[in-house]
Amino acid sequence: MRTQVAIIGAGPSGLLLGQLLHKAGIDNIILERQTGDYVLGRIRAGILEQVTVDLLEEAGVADRLHAEGTVHHSIELVFNRTRHPILVDQLTGGKVVTAYGQTEMTRDLMDARAAAGLPTVYEAANVSLHDFDGKTPRVRYEKDGRTHEIECDFIAGCDGFHGVSRQSVPQGAIREYEKVYPFGWLGVLSDTPPVSPHAIVYGNSERGFSLCSMRSLTRSRYYVQVPLTDKVEAWSDERFWDELRLRLDPDLASRIVTGPSIEKSIAPLRSFVAEPMRFGRLFLAGDASHIVPPTGAKGLNLAASDVKYLSSALVEYYREKSEAGIDTYSDRCLRRVWKAERFSWWLTTLMHRFPDTEGFGQKVQDAELDYLVHSKAMSTALAENYVGLPLEL
Ligand code: APR
Ligand code: PHB
Repeated sequence: MRTQVAIIGAGPSGLLLGQLLHKAGIDNIILERQTGDYVLGRIRAGILEQVTVDLLEEAGVADRLHAEGTVHHSIELVFNRTRHPILVDQLTGGKVVTAYGQTEMTRDLMDARAAAGLPTVYEAANVSLHDFDGKTPRVRYEKDGRTHEIECDFIAGCDGFHGVSRQSVPQGAIREYEKVYPFGWLGVLSDTPPVSPHAIVYGNSERGFSLCSMRSLTRSRYYVQVPLTDKVEAWSDERFWDELRLRLDPDLASRIVTGPSIEKSIAPLRSFVAEPMRFGRLFLAGDASHIVPPTGAKGLNLAASDVKYLSSALVEYYREKSEAGIDTYSDRCLRRVWKAERFSWWLTTLMHRFPDTEGFGQKVQDAELDYLVHSKAMSTALAENYVGLPLEL
């Protein structure tokens, strides 16, 4: 089989890239090692920057987003049992974010791909990448007991942190940067009305970080910081709800609507970047190349901006026979990636309690929070990063 672009991974990156390439008349196939239901079963945040919303509109998959997504004009910070609004739209000249679960975005992209009759191979096993340092890359995979080979012009590694694409790059050709945080997030999903449906609430109390979010007006998502040694089995729903309330201000705590958890898990936090993001005819995009701690809600948005740059570069190659976009892809992505890595690290450092913070360090964190909510300059810096920095076009 032959195609123009072979995409590895049917997560948000792969599906969005496939849709944008299809819209531009560029043939592509997606190879995904899991089933479609498995991919849809992943619980992930969905706080979309305007850049991401615009991209979903360009891809023709934004109808449900506009019908069911919730626009947020502000966020709230809670510390010292007091809640402080950060009016991001006023601080950024009207920019906002939209809360719309990643699962729903993935579902919309899957449905659009199926409706267009585009090829997606689910349960593609043992995918391997070949000859991407030349002009005739190939991809192999196993399905139904047979080995299949795809000849292509380009390979897009959209297969996430644990994927095969980054692992296929020769060790000497790639440099990795990583920071692992000394705590995890215990997350609960519940079919209860969100306590703050129009503003995500980030808390920093002496007991640790907390977050109040949502998936819809009837489905809430909450988190509390826990030690990495904690096991989810040790956290009953009741213990979780009690702990969450202890980390909020009294008013918000009193308004939490509790209910049975429909999903409960502990996730570690890491910052990670692999450089560069292009190796001959192989391009990495999304989690395949970088990971952020979820604090700043940047993971999905960085995947979208990588895909915007990559789809534009490939369209330019096929339409104008120019390799300018391809040659600048990695540097353009990494300038935006590192700014989002910085913001995610900064907000994580600001809002969490670190096991080894001495008295001085805690006083500095307290002062930074106090300065942030009383300084227009500092609040603006938070707001413009939260709504998303402009793309380099
Ligand atoms: N072969 C084929 N598919 C693979 C392989 C492989 N060897 N390894 C991984 N995959 C698939 C995974 O099953 C997954 O469906 O690649 C997909 C990668 O999707 P994500 O991990 O979601 O990464 P990405 O599409 O870049 O989306 C980033 O997802 O994880 C969140 O927080 C992250 O919001 C961000 C977004
Ligand atoms: C979530 O809804 O899961 C979420 C929201 C905002 C964040 C992180 C996670 O910053």
